[in-house]
Amino acid sequence: LAKVEVDLTKIPEGKNVVIKWRGKPVFIRHRTASEISEANETSLTELRDPQNDADRVKRPEWLVMLGVCTHLGCVPIGEAGDYGGWYCPCHGSHYDISGRIRKGPAPLNLEIPEYDFESDELLVIG
Ligand code: FES
Repeated sequence: LAKVEVDLTKIPEGKNVVIKWRGKPVFIRHRTASEISEANETSLTELRDPQNDADRVKRPEWLVMLGVCTHLGCVPIGEAGDYGGWYCPCHGSHYDISGRIRKGPAPLNLEIPEYDFESDELLVIG
């Protein structure tokens, strides 16, 4: 079972990185305090696939998710779209700063892979 280690010290606050895991892109975002509040302030009634931000992260400052659009599998673009998160250019799905679907044809939030924090500085995916 392939696991991938990610050195978190190399990802400054407010930045995204994309790594490959089992042939798929994984998005990692080091979220800012204002992004975390925004993600938490969103009401579940606004969401197509209602999920609290707290149930999508293990540490609020680190958002880790599969970079695979839940519509037909394209790779969304970071720091884009109408909700401050990701935008899938294939058919126009907009995801928020928690990776939740907000607009467009995708039915579900971006999926969360298995991962853990081995230490404050080391993330292990898989
Ligand atoms: Fe992303 Fe269709 S594959 S919107």
